[in-house]
Amino acid sequence: MSEPKKITLINRNNLKLEISTLGATILSLEVPSKNGKHINVVVGLSHPKDYKSETYLNEGLYLGSTIGRCAGRISKDKVEINEEKYTLNNVQGIHLHGGKEGFDKKIWNIEKVDSGDSSTATLSYLSKHLEEGYPGNLKVSVIYTLTEENALKISFKATTDRTTILNLTNHSYFNLDGESTVLDHKLQLNSNSYLHLDKQLIPTGKINLVEGTRFDYNKKTLIGKKDFKGLDDIFILNKNGPKAVLVSEKSGIQMKVYTNQPAMVIYTPNTFNKLPFKDNVNYSKFPAICFEAQKYPDAINNDNFPSILLNPEQTYINETVFEFSNT
Ligand code: GLA
Repeated sequence: MSEPKKITLINRNNLKLEISTLGATILSLEVPSKNGKHINVVVGLSHPKDYKSETYLNEGLYLGSTIGRCAGRISKDKVEINEEKYTLNNVQGIHLHGGKEGFDKKIWNIEKVDSGDSSTATLSYLSKHLEEGYPGNLKVSVIYTLTEENALKISFKATTDRTTILNLTNHSYFNLDGESTVLDHKLQLNSNSYLHLDKQLIPTGKINLVEGTRFDYNKKTLIGKKDFKGLDDIFILNKNGPKAVLVSEKSGIQMKVYTNQPAMVIYTPNTFNKLPFKDNVNYSKFPAICFEAQKYPDAINNDNFPSILLNPEQTYINETVFEFSNT
């Protein structure tokens, strides 16, 4: 495998993004804080090569990576697409985050980098027919853009030559202080319902209301509220407005998340084991939070979920914006 390359984008306000061609992964994102200091708000490792180390891969963290073809879990070892059965790569019947060698482990091609005013980078990948068991040759691209409004826009596009299933996302872990924990951050989610999960975190098909439950983040809520046990849950997003807001009073950074995707997996790992984190930062309990905008996981096995099929005549478009400001 060729060595991963690093791409750097900077906008006029010094919002700075580093991407690796391995997994089209976000390595760092530096954002101005209220005292003018720039803070790296995503968890990343020191060097693009660190993402190939066994110690890191054994953690299964997918730090900042592109997840595909399908994010999350698919429950049966066979999926039926256009009356044909396909066996997806699986561990005891569960396919996770695109399989053994998902898009996070592939070297993506650099199509275009424009570090002028528009600050964009386009990367692409051709996923061959039956890769990890999925049908169709799938051409996928991701465009990272830093806007003048201090937002990072991630746009995925894809086309296929046979009907397939597709549910892409980016797996960045955010911490608006750039270290320690997110327990003192506040979170708001524009969501009235969530997917009920079984013990293996597979959606059961049931959709529950958040009202009166620990999943109700309709008002800004301290992440480290009493009884917080962590989240690895799938929220169904309301149609209008920002879908999520995250604020740190300490750094004064606020992040608003917009997306055209119908759902968002919110994931807060308990801890990170020792890894070569960028700038040797230290993380404590509940170090970061992921906002994985996507379609409903395991939709292919739940008729009441919106379809994740992609047909040859269609173009898949998935856009998510992370917008930063100071409070
Ligand atoms: C997603 C999953 C989690 C976990 C993380 C990566 O958020 O839902 O269970 O796999 O990715 O560690």
